[in-house]
Amino acid sequence: MDKFRWGILSTANIGRKAMIPALKKTPMAEVLAAASRDGDKAKTFAEELGIPKSYGSYQALLEDPEIDAVYIPLPNHLHKEWTIRAAQAGKHILCEKPLALNAAECETMIAAANENGVILMESFMYRYHPRILAAAEMVRSGKIGTLKTIETGFTFFMHNRDDIRMKSEMGGGALMDVGCYCVNISRLMAGRKPVAVQAQAVWAPTGVDGQLVSILDFGEGLYAHFDCAFNQSSRQHCILAGTGGYLSIPQAFNPGEKRSVIQEVMGGKTVQVHEFEGVDEYVLIAEQFMHTIQGEEPIYLIEDSIINMQVIEALLESARNDGQLINL
Ligand SMILES: NC(=O)c1ccc[n+]([C@@H]2O[C@H](COP(=O)([O-])OP(=O)(O)OC[C@H]3O[C@@H](n4cnc5c(N)ncnc54)[C@H](OP(=O)(O)O)[C@@H]3O)[C@@H](O)[C@H]2O)c1
Repeated sequence: MDKFRWGILSTANIGRKAMIPALKKTPMAEVLAAASRDGDKAKTFAEELGIPKSYGSYQALLEDPEIDAVYIPLPNHLHKEWTIRAAQAGKHILCEKPLALNAAECETMIAAANENGVILMESFMYRYHPRILAAAEMVRSGKIGTLKTIETGFTFFMHNRDDIRMKSEMGGGALMDVGCYCVNISRLMAGRKPVAVQAQAVWAPTGVDGQLVSILDFGEGLYAHFDCAFNQSSRQHCILAGTGGYLSIPQAFNPGEKRSVIQEVMGGKTVQVHEFEGVDEYVLIAEQFMHTIQGEEPIYLIEDSIINMQVIEALLESARNDGQLINL
């Protein structure tokens, strides 16, 4: 195969701003088609982005035999349906985060991919950044002693009350939208699943969590705590604290394409600032996805997405019950 021929399901912002430009950068991919629920919208979108074909329905794109892989940046409640339909059409699937509304949906989607012999990957682009891989390796190598606390946050102001993130029936909410990154990086750095979780939330008038604060207990004295929100200024960070020192990762999830750092602090003093070249995380995940289709072992197994959703579900249950401890 010369290039993987991609189809894009919807005219979503994240496709326009991040994934389609990334696919255009990599020599492994060609963006062949875009689909929308509205044919005119699809045509305009395709013309603007230099995509040769457009379709007025997602299913029509899936029926195009020239398409090898699809990118699904649909609202969260549609991830399951369109992943299954894409798998049944024999297309490999890069689906946006969070993979689904709950762990049971993730299991069904993974089963559909396996039954149809296609690759399914969750588009958690942040964890392919060399800085995140390096941080995980520093933790594992014992650089900061025994890991004790993982502190993360991901917040921003949501001004648009009509946004898909504000709709509970679409799987909206701060936890599903940005807290899912905090859960994911905490689990990645801990190297295991939490044994119990707790959360408290401030509920937006639409019923979604507009702000959520959480504790994850990983057992053996390792805790993560994080907050995520739609009601405050933009903030992203991750601190990995151990018995010997800590690592600070500013702008942990999408540092953009500029150089980024890990600050290493020992005994209260910065001993090293590790610098990383600027990269496009969306190119990295797209290429990893295509290498996986070619038979390479993925860095992260898709089953990881089931555990991430189990934790998210437990956190929402806890938040709905005034911070009740939920054992996993
Ligand atoms: N990895 C990342 O960095 C990142 C960043 C942002 C978002 N995301 C994820 O990407 C997904 C899309 O987010 P987004 O902000 O890009 O969404 P968005 O701009 O609101 O786009 C969603 C698209 O879904 C389609 N759609 C189908 N049914 C819909 C419905 N009932 N209501 C609204 N739209 C509907 C629409 O396309 P048509 O009208 O063309 O059919 C719409 O353009 C979400 O899962 C989100 O969590 C990931």
